[in-house]
Amino acid sequence: MSHIESVLHENRSFPPSSEFTAQANVSGIAAYQALTTKAATDYEGYWADLARQHISWETPFTRILDETNAPFYRWFDDGYLNVSYNCIDRHLPAKADKTALIFEADDGLVTRISYQQLHDRVCAFANALIAQGVTKGDRVVIYMPMSAEAVIAMQACARIGAIHSVVFGGFSAKSLHERIVDAQAKLVITADAGMRGGRATSLKSAVDEALTLGGTECISRVIVYQRTGQEVNWHESRDLWWHDSVADMPNTCEPARMNAEDPLFILYTSGSTGTPKGVQHSSAGYLLGAIVTMNMVFDAKADTDVFWCTADVGWITGHTYVTYGPLAMGMTQVIFEGVPTYPDAGRFWKMIQDHRVTTFYTAPTAIRSLIKLGGELPRQYDLSSLRLLGSVGEPINPEAWMWYHQEVGQSRCPIVDTWWQTETGSNMIAPLPGAVATKPGSCTLPIPGIIADVVDEHGASLPFGQGGYLVITRPFPSLLRTLWNNPERYKKSYFPEELGGKVYLAGDSAQRDTDGYYWIMGRIDDVLNVSGHRLGTMEIESALVSHPLVAEAAIVGKPHDIKGEAIVAFVVLKGERPQGAAAKEISDTLRNWVGQEIGAIAKPDEIRFGDNLPKTRSGKIMRRLLRALAKGETITQDVSTLENPAILDQLK
Ligand code: WT7
Repeated sequence: MSHIESVLHENRSFPPSSEFTAQANVSGIAAYQALTTKAATDYEGYWADLARQHISWETPFTRILDETNAPFYRWFDDGYLNVSYNCIDRHLPAKADKTALIFEADDGLVTRISYQQLHDRVCAFANALIAQGVTKGDRVVIYMPMSAEAVIAMQACARIGAIHSVVFGGFSAKSLHERIVDAQAKLVITADAGMRGGRATSLKSAVDEALTLGGTECISRVIVYQRTGQEVNWHESRDLWWHDSVADMPNTCEPARMNAEDPLFILYTSGSTGTPKGVQHSSAGYLLGAIVTMNMVFDAKADTDVFWCTADVGWITGHTYVTYGPLAMGMTQVIFEGVPTYPDAGRFWKMIQDHRVTTFYTAPTAIRSLIKLGGELPRQYDLSSLRLLGSVGEPINPEAWMWYHQEVGQSRCPIVDTWWQTETGSNMIAPLPGAVATKPGSCTLPIPGIIADVVDEHGASLPFGQGGYLVITRPFPSLLRTLWNNPERYKKSYFPEELGGKVYLAGDSAQRDTDGYYWIMGRIDDVLNVSGHRLGTMEIESALVSHPLVAEAAIVGKPHDIKGEAIVAFVVLKGERPQGAAAKEISDTLRNWVGQEIGAIAKPDEIRFGDNLPKTRSGKIMRRLLRALAKGETITQDVSTLENPAILDQLK
């Protein structure tokens, strides 16, 4: 029985407790239904009410949704606001001294930053950016470790209307270079290094390398936050220390007046072709998605919650549920520099205990690795502060869900399994924890205002029980607006003509059970999900074939206990097929090569060499056969269309 078949037989259901429901922002299933009904009958009114209620506008909007140039949708587009103002300034009258950020470093050192201090530091850094010539609409690349400074840098961009593009610190110089060039950024913000698990990893040196590769004349300045104090190469005319940049800067900076539709940021993500896609988000619609889901899904209580999302700000989860969502709510949140297993696998639980965390949001891959390394450890800590748990990044297997529920949530805390994507900006399908009963492995029901469906290849809605394409049929505020520099690719990737050109194609397959609950089955494109991170098979293939020894390569995923999916590479070399020690050596070389080309997360877990790849007579690589081989399955499929059936034995 496949994974998806087995989860579809999952019939445990966990209704919200009466205690949780009594205090919930959306309390009871009737309240959930009232919201979905309101959205169904007055879609624009539903979102407009929320936008008026939750966003502080500088100039209120009068227009709601503009679909005239579909699928380039616009929301609230005669309204003006500033996102940083909404995340910081508006809280100051009531809670200047409230802790905004609790930063815990890799070594355990804790720093607290109040809303007033955050304001002052964001303003000083915003002024530093202005002093370096950054103006509204300029792109700023942020390549930083998890730190208060990363959040400050993003907020400072938002404050002056610069468009940030955060590049995850685990990406290589090459990947960084590609993103700098595509965004035509003016400035890079980085750190000397980051600290994770007791080890420093250099970041500045990767920036140096990226800027020696062609096409980066756009960059006039590199601002470097000093984290470890290690030796760095210095380019006097280009590099500037963060602490010097803010030294004489005033602690106030007028928030720029931004149109609702002005881009807030670009975040690159993998697609089915070799080049990453620059997902572009708006200001107001994106902010609204963050706030509404903080309220409904995370049941945010601004005055009493301590929120902790473990995602790095290099991913969308870290944008929406670290930098923007919790701050827009005026909450206290924890930010963590390190890794869950250092100094031991009790780190998360100790931090929850120490900071009295109420709401904890992490990924199935982290949960699975912590079960493996210390399933009994949560019991050694006081986790009584927790009231709500979240999961994101991939489907959570029911066993991991049950452990999370029992051992971490002590059977008391609802689990919100949140399905969404870089492109959707905020949670789309997830239980409202005081209203919707949960089932292990299902992300349950769409959030009110999100109109989802499962359709066939012609766009026709499928009945419950049938698997198909997951789509969202109405544009919603936090949806990406376009792909940076590539509106055609935006249309083709997300609004394909085959489905009528108007519904958002998520790229996942899904199935609904008899209760209408959504079960995500996996990607429909050539995208892998490794430890909750998206990687395009084409990207890894391009990296491999760019190595002088490699003639041809094909990448497939195979199930992995901890990572969800492991990367298996089938490689044909230009010379002889290597065997034994030679194969091992070339394998290591190629793995490191991919690490340098893309980043360590993209290194194949396994490389198999062949004289050729299984191809049809027309020369198409038969990936389904490769997937079966990777899993170690015996090939029972029809191989009669195969040009070279003998190759299968070699690749086993
Ligand atoms: C893809 C999006 C959005 C945050 C992190 C990943 C998969 C994400 C779930 C979930 C099943 C999930 C999907 C989606 N995914 N969350 N709760 N259940 N699958 O963002 O890198 O844009 O990847 O991650 O396949 O399409 P991303």
